[in-house]
Amino acid sequence: MPNVTLTTLSKLKQTGEKITCLTAYDATFSQLVNEAGVEVILVGDSLGMVLQGNDSTLPVTVADMAYHTRAVKRGNSSALIMVDLPFMSYPNVDQALASSAQLMQAGAHMVKLEGAGWLAPIIKALVQNGVPVCAHLGLTPQAVNLLGGYKVQGRLDEQAQVILDDAKALEAAGASMLLLECVPSVLANAITEAVSVPVIGIGAGSGTDGQVLVVHDMLGLTRGHRQPRFVKNFMLDQQDVPGALRAYVEAVKKVEFPAAEHEF
Ligand code: KIV
Ligand code: NA
Repeated sequence: MPNVTLTTLSKLKQTGEKITCLTAYDATFSQLVNEAGVEVILVGDSLGMVLQGNDSTLPVTVADMAYHTRAVKRGNSSALIMVDLPFMSYPNVDQALASSAQLMQAGAHMVKLEGAGWLAPIIKALVQNGVPVCAHLGLTPQAVNLLGGYKVQGRLDEQAQVILDDAKALEAAGASMLLLECVPSVLANAITEAVSVPVIGIGAGSGTDGQVLVVHDMLGLTRGHRQPRFVKNFMLDQQDVPGALRAYVEAVKKVEFPAAEHEF
């Protein structure tokens, strides 16, 4: 597969072919995810929970993210590597630039940050400095203490309108991609139509331009808490991990995943 770039993703949105994304935090999974034909690898700060055993993503540092990005880069052949800016590493333009410099130099092709309209000047500065940005909206796990738990966002019309307006504002600020987590499918569909950049969803229904899952969740490895509604265990019908990863890609491309039972 030729190297996936922002141009590739934009063409997929235009042609209506779904974009596939999975997390990877190390070289082995990076290689496996590449072999399955996934377009975007997310080095997610979910590694704070999945790998480090924390009960939220807040303890993760930029140094942690850079370490895992270097490992993923070594296993990568052609996927676009998107890396999370962790909690409190982008409270203002200067710190966002410094944090992103570390991640880009470690091998990121793009950074992802969580928030809302207030991110616009930060996104603008990153883009001016050559850093493509994905804006993560809806359920933003770095704000779990403010949100009072991991809950679906945008259920009320008023909240939904705020998220839609934020999505448009962040596209206008220069975001090259949006990621929607745990929002009702109707809202995700409205945002996907309203913006021209690709929209990736998790718990956002099948109408977004692409899908992402935490790889440990979709392989049925995650322990200790009930799996969220949007997770499907792709190992159940497969013999091995490469088979499960291929089954995920095929299900997303055929719009068989997510199904109605996975959405809000
Ligand atoms: O950190 C992560 O894995 C994420 C996904 C859940 C979207 O941000
Ligand atoms: Na994340």
